[in-house]
Amino acid sequence: MKIVAMLGSPRAQSNSTTLARAFLKGAAELGAETREYLLNQMDFQGCQGCGGCKTKSEICLKEDEMSAALAEAKAADVLVLASPVYFGDVSGQMKCFFDRTYSYLNPDFSSRVPAGKQAVVILVQANPDEKQFDDIFPRYERWLKLYGYDPVHLLRVTGVREPGVVKQHAALMDRVAALARKVAGPPPEPPPKIKKPLQPVSGASGQTAY
Ligand SMILES: Cc1cc2nc3c(=O)[nH]c(=O)nc-3n(C[C@H](O)[C@H](O)[C@H](O)COP(=O)(O)O)c2cc1C
Repeated sequence: MKIVAMLGSPRAQSNSTTLARAFLKGAAELGAETREYLLNQMDFQGCQGCGGCKTKSEICLKEDEMSAALAEAKAADVLVLASPVYFGDVSGQMKCFFDRTYSYLNPDFSSRVPAGKQAVVILVQANPDEKQFDDIFPRYERWLKLYGYDPVHLLRVTGVREPGVVKQHAALMDRVAALARKVAGPPPEPPPKIKKPLQPVSGASGQTAY
């Protein structure tokens, strides 16, 4: 299994990056091949709106450091998007990446992403109120599902402001490990087929027959 993570925070010791890396580490321990892209350190621009991916090419015509990352993310089995919440949305770095995935869609908006993939969205915000900014995930889940990612998992952490503080929350890191097992671990055993025991029936003679 190949997992590609797009990291949308510009901060060193970022909370969302810390969570994403813990997830990747857990998945790697289960045998996954992982790759991360620190978007803030990449030389790339957002979608130019040229339409070339709909009229001339199956891939984005903008050539920069995002070109190879877009191809690798499209081919991976799992796409991870990890971002701080900025003004009620993902960071600008993450939005610029996401806009470039317009090239994952055919002109009829069917997907160019091969089927059978999962996505993980990691969102971290300072506001402790879970109702605040709870619209972000459904909005991105909608597009990820259009691309064919299913399921789209969410790891959302609220009430976290200072860099790196997520590390101090053992229960949270347990949640990350559990998510890694869910995504990259062996599939759950199918429930055993319970054979309905044959019910003895009484024959006309009064003997028990099966
Ligand atoms: C420009 C900016 C905008 C922010 N906007 C929000 C916001 O709308 N809601 C919120 O709860 N926190 C907001 N925050 C706080 C961050 O989401 C919070 O510090 C988070 O832990 C940062 O994640 P990171 O460490 O992965 O960068 C904002 C921070 C910055 C720098």
